[in-house]
Amino acid sequence: MGIRIVKTSSYLPGPGVDNSYFEDFLDTSDSWISSRTGIKNRYFAKDEDLFDLVERSVKNLKLSQGEMDRVKTIIVATCTSSYAIPNLASRVQENFNFAEDIYSLDINMACSSFVAGLKLINGLIKEGEYALLIGAEIFSQIIDFKDRNTAVLFGDGAGAVLLEYSSRESYFISGTRGNTEVLNCGHESKFLYMNGKEVYRFGVSTMEKAIKGFMDKLDINRDKVDYFIAHQANIRILESLAKGLGVSMDKFPFNMDKVGNISSASIPVLLDQMNKEGKLKSGDKIIFLGFGAGLTWSLAYMKW
Ligand code: ACO
Repeated sequence: MGIRIVKTSSYLPGPGVDNSYFEDFLDTSDSWISSRTGIKNRYFAKDEDLFDLVERSVKNLKLSQGEMDRVKTIIVATCTSSYAIPNLASRVQENFNFAEDIYSLDINMACSSFVAGLKLINGLIKEGEYALLIGAEIFSQIIDFKDRNTAVLFGDGAGAVLLEYSSRESYFISGTRGNTEVLNCGHESKFLYMNGKEVYRFGVSTMEKAIKGFMDKLDINRDKVDYFIAHQANIRILESLAKGLGVSMDKFPFNMDKVGNISSASIPVLLDQMNKEGKLKSGDKIIFLGFGAGLTWSLAYMKW
């Protein structure tokens, strides 16, 4: 058994903030940021909090009453929540009046969370049911705007998908390498700390090995994969993965130029953009690829 994505949506708090914004108060430049990362723009919430972003992305799914009645799992994936109790997924249940006989979970596996959420839903969903998976982040509340190493990279936003049970098999793998040194928040400081170079190395070397191992396990050739939909941290990481796999960049869609790195929301926001642009056709074979703090990684293979 497996899962299938039925609907996508996203929400980005406006207006966009381009790279020149940082030039006024940081020793940085648009040319450094865009050439080193591919990022040109991001969104920062002003008068909204994390739950507002979650709520807007769910609203944008435009669920019918029939679809809502079948939802039996709600998962919110995030690493920037300051809400411990009650969790965000339970607030989604209450706010939208979903049925009470559901699982409502918040999960945190950093930038791997959305793909890990797919795996959890694959384990929980039953025939005839729907599940809701929302990736949402509010990095503007945890980045130090005096730190050029992180401030220019991240953004706020949310993306949501409605999933259904499918008789077509979905496949997953995941990994964790406990490391508190290279990426952390809330340990010694309330701000996000990242050793970008180390995370970059992890992104290119470990991920290339993970994708190749996953394709071998599935006995699927790279030419048979229509898209590698990866976490949007740095265009150079995606270029390096495409090169290492021997596939064209057409198979590695990206939107970090428009939205920056939004961690758990990166993949669902990109997916929604691709869906709205009509880039996904029934039967497309997709490898989803999340990686980030932990260090963690999570891969899924699904058909559209
Ligand atoms: N503007 C100008 N210069 C800068 C900036 C900036 N915004 N940021 C860093 N620099 C400087 C550094 O201080 C350094 O200067 P120095 O040589 O005088 O010491 C120089 O640029 C080079 O710094 P590096 O860190 O080596 O730059 P690099 O090319 O590695 O790019 C980057 C940095 C963009 C962060 C890259 O390493 C990267 O993308 N890493 C991966 C990030 C990632 O994948 N994160 C995903 C997980 S996020 C999560 O899980 C929450």
